[in-house]
Amino acid sequence: MSKPESNQESLMETLIGLSKRRGFIFQGSEIYGGLAGTWDYGPLGVALKNNVKKIWWQRFVDGREDMYGVDAAILMNQRTWEASGHVAGFSDPLVECKKCHHRFRADQLDPELAAAKKCPDCGGALGDVKQFNMMFKTQIGAGEDSAAVSYLRPETAQGMFVNFKNILDSQHPKLPFGMAQIGKAFRNEIAPRDFIFRAREFEQMEIEYFVDPRDEKKVNETFDALFEEQQKFLTVLGLDPKKIHKIEVPASDRAHYSKRSVDTEYDFPFGQKELLGIAYRTDFDLKAHTTMSGVDLSYFDEETKTRFIPHCIEPTFGLDRLILAVLSNAYTEDDMGGEKRVFMKFAPAVAPVKIAVFPLLKNKPELIKKAREIYASLKKEFGAVEFDDNGNIGKRYRRQDEIGTPFCVTIDFDTIEKGEGVTIRHRDTGTQERVSEANLLDFLTKKMS
Ligand code: GLY
Repeated sequence: MSKPESNQESLMETLIGLSKRRGFIFQGSEIYGGLAGTWDYGPLGVALKNNVKKIWWQRFVDGREDMYGVDAAILMNQRTWEASGHVAGFSDPLVECKKCHHRFRADQLDPELAAAKKCPDCGGALGDVKQFNMMFKTQIGAGEDSAAVSYLRPETAQGMFVNFKNILDSQHPKLPFGMAQIGKAFRNEIAPRDFIFRAREFEQMEIEYFVDPRDEKKVNETFDALFEEQQKFLTVLGLDPKKIHKIEVPASDRAHYSKRSVDTEYDFPFGQKELLGIAYRTDFDLKAHTTMSGVDLSYFDEETKTRFIPHCIEPTFGLDRLILAVLSNAYTEDDMGGEKRVFMKFAPAVAPVKIAVFPLLKNKPELIKKAREIYASLKKEFGAVEFDDNGNIGKRYRRQDEIGTPFCVTIDFDTIEKGEGVTIRHRDTGTQERVSEANLLDFLTKKMS
């Protein structure tokens, strides 16, 4: 397992600084001193996140015949969480210092301090370990009795299980088929940490894929195929395969509902940590909801004329963790023209800005007019295109490098006076080439893919 090195720790600080300076990600409620474990995405961050979601939805929902998208409510009837096992068992071990009253996750303490029951902050004595339920409890409506209790969902998965019958009745799918959802989830982490890696409010992209349990070989093949799809998705995002690791999770570390789990871990700057996972949830959830709700969540197989509760395989993706992986993977420093340069080497598909258009000079109306024309046509085609006429051209390139724009298009006097096309500058190499106006759209479309 790789360990973080000190230059990797400073990479985290650099990434957090760049994210704030350039408008990717800000601390939540920052002007009030922040709210621990919450992060706000700025214009570039939301564009990056939307690109990742779009690719995911295209690959796992629109691009397949066997997936049904849903967008379920975050607040759910509290009995959902009794059935799912989260009320009873979704907890982390908590210890509190008797002297400074700081709280820690017992399983994340330095082993020597944990054995000595010593507080890492003040050296005081630590109390006994208690189980702390990580769900955020809330009150629905004006009632203050226990019937009004609800929770902010700690996983999007349950919104799909409770809609299983709605999908059967409205879409009439045949097994195997899946349900997919992207949405917020909430966990009251004892110690949120590592930027957007472990936050209290975060976003998940989850699939509940239902199979006939009677063909065990097919169930295992489906598990493996979905795992492979997860890996391909990471490649599309441009993540370095050498930093991706497959971990077969031992039974002692698996969630209460899982018969088999495989985690995909990534070499983050703070060490090798879980990025996404796949779990064989069996019939645990549909069975539990059938019992709790009294509604039959079985499936009738027309071919064999049999009725049974399908089993479920769940590929789950932590969206914010993926964003952090994409950011840390993209961060690159090199030397250009004798100066240190920083650039984000985003794959064009995820880059928040695809193209920047520059008139060479700011005060030349004819250059501005032509650049605006080209900008409008590229924006129509690619959407995420910026126009920039501020400062010298070198400074404009540096800014686009730092936000990871793959291509800059410059309009100069040769464009308007000699019809000699535009200059395209490539982010990763800094090289420039001349492309005719007529070929510009085609050239960029090919490069984007
Ligand atoms: N649904 C699985 C998870 O939230 O980790």
